[in-house]
Amino acid sequence: MNAVVEISPGSGLPAAARAALDDRLGARVSYAEGICSQHAQSETHFPSRLPDAVVFAESTEEVIFVVRLCAEHGVKLTAFGAGTSIEGSALPIFGGISLDMSRMNRILDVNADDFDVTVEAGVTRIALNNHLRDQGLFFPVDPGADATIGGMASTRASGTNAVRYGTMREAVLSLRVVTADGREIRTARRARKSAAGYDLTHLFVGAEGTLGIITEVTLRLHPIPEVISSAVCSFETIEGAATTVIQAIQLGIPLARAEILDDIQMRAVNLWSKLDYPEKTTLFFEFHGSQASVDEQVALVEELSSGNGGGAFAWSSLPEERSRLWKARHEAYYATLGLRPGSSGWATDVCVPIGRLADCISETKHDLATCSVPATICGHVGDGNFHVLFALDPDTPAEWEEVEALNARLIARALAMDGTCTGEHGIGIGKQAALIDELGEGVDLMRHIKRALDPHGMFNPGKIFAPN
Ligand code: LAC
Ligand code: ZN
Repeated sequence: MNAVVEISPGSGLPAAARAALDDRLGARVSYAEGICSQHAQSETHFPSRLPDAVVFAESTEEVIFVVRLCAEHGVKLTAFGAGTSIEGSALPIFGGISLDMSRMNRILDVNADDFDVTVEAGVTRIALNNHLRDQGLFFPVDPGADATIGGMASTRASGTNAVRYGTMREAVLSLRVVTADGREIRTARRARKSAAGYDLTHLFVGAEGTLGIITEVTLRLHPIPEVISSAVCSFETIEGAATTVIQAIQLGIPLARAEILDDIQMRAVNLWSKLDYPEKTTLFFEFHGSQASVDEQVALVEELSSGNGGGAFAWSSLPEERSRLWKARHEAYYATLGLRPGSSGWATDVCVPIGRLADCISETKHDLATCSVPATICGHVGDGNFHVLFALDPDTPAEWEEVEALNARLIARALAMDGTCTGEHGIGIGKQAALIDELGEGVDLMRHIKRALDPHGMFNPGKIFAPN
C-alpha cells in the first residue's frame, strides 16, 4: 500500500463549491477521512494525498454537474473506479475531488445478435460476465483484479486472454465521455468498423482519465467457447518456456492464455495458494475452441514444449480446477509480497516484439540474480508482455534505489528491442520519464492534445506527464 502523505480532508475546496456540492448531492459527497483515504490508496508504492472530497456519482447528469462545478471553481477532478491500477493512475495527487464511479453500475443494453453490450463506467468485469453468462456470451479482457470497465478503458487494460481476444483497445467500440466544458459526447456508433473522422474512441482509451470522464462504454463480446481446457507445464530453463510460446504464436496457434511464472514466482504462488507445483519456470496455458480444435492446439503445444525442455502437462479441465489455477495466477503479486511479510510492492511491466521476448526475459532474469530483495517474473508472454514484481522493505531506502535502477535497466532493455515501457499497467505516475524515452516528441503532441481538451488541467493532473 502506498503512503498517504498529506492529511487535510476538506481543506482545499472553495466554500461556494462545497455548498453547491452538498446542496445537489447531499450524503453522496463525503469529506470523511476514512472515505478520502480509501480513494488515496493504490495497489502499489506511490505517495499520494487525500482528495478534498469524494463524490459518488449515480448518473451522467451528476457527472456533468461535477465537471461544470470543478471547471467553474478551478477544482481538480480525478475519476476513481475500483482503485486497482498499478501505476497510481487514480490517485488524486493534487487533491480536489475523487469522482467515484462505482455506483454507475447499470448494464444498459446487451445486443446478443451483434455481440456487443453497453454499460455504465462503474460496472466491474466480473459483474458483467455474471450477467452475460446465461446468454452464452463473455467479455474476455481480464487483468486479474475486478476492475471497473471505465477504469479498464482508461488504462487500456489487458491481462491474461489478451493474446487471443485483444486488449481494451480492441474491446471498446464506443464511449460516452463528459468533456472539460461539461458536454457529453459519443465517440462512435455501434458499427464494428468506421472510417468516420478522427478516432475519438481510442483517444480516450488509455488516456488515464486526463482528457475527460468516461460515463458509458460499448464493448465487443465473444461467444463462450464450447471447450475450455487449462494446463500447467514446467521447464528446465526460462528460455525454454519463452521459446515455446514464441513458436506457438509464430505457428498461429490461437492460444487463449499463455502465462509465464519463473521459479521464484512459482515458489511464491505455491506458498500463497497452497499448491505444490514444481518450483521451476512454468507456463500456464488455456485453450479455447471446439473439441477438435482444442485437441489439435494441445498436440502442437505439447510437441513444442517437449522440444524446449518442458515436462508433462498437468491438466485442469473441470471448471473448479481451472478457477483455482487462474486465481493462483491472478494473485501472483500478492504471493510475491507474501514472500516477505510487511513488504511494499513494486510491479513493473514491459512488452517487446514477440521475437525478442526470450532475450528480454533471460537478460532480465540474469540482471535479477544479484537483487537483494525478493523479485519474481510473471507475465502474459503470448503478447511479449511480462512483469517483475518486487517485495521491498518500506524502511530501507537502499532497496528502493536498487529496484529503481533495475527497473530503469529493464525499461532501457525493452526500448532497445523496440518494445514499450508498459504493455499493460500504463504510465500513471511511475513511467513518465520512460514515456519520454520511448516516444520523445510524440509526448509533446500528447501535451498539445491535453491542452486542447483540458485547457485548465482539471482532469487527473500529474498523470502521464507533469501538469502544464
Ligand atoms: C499481473 C499484474 C501484476 O499480471 O499485471 O499479475
Ligand atoms: Zn499483468
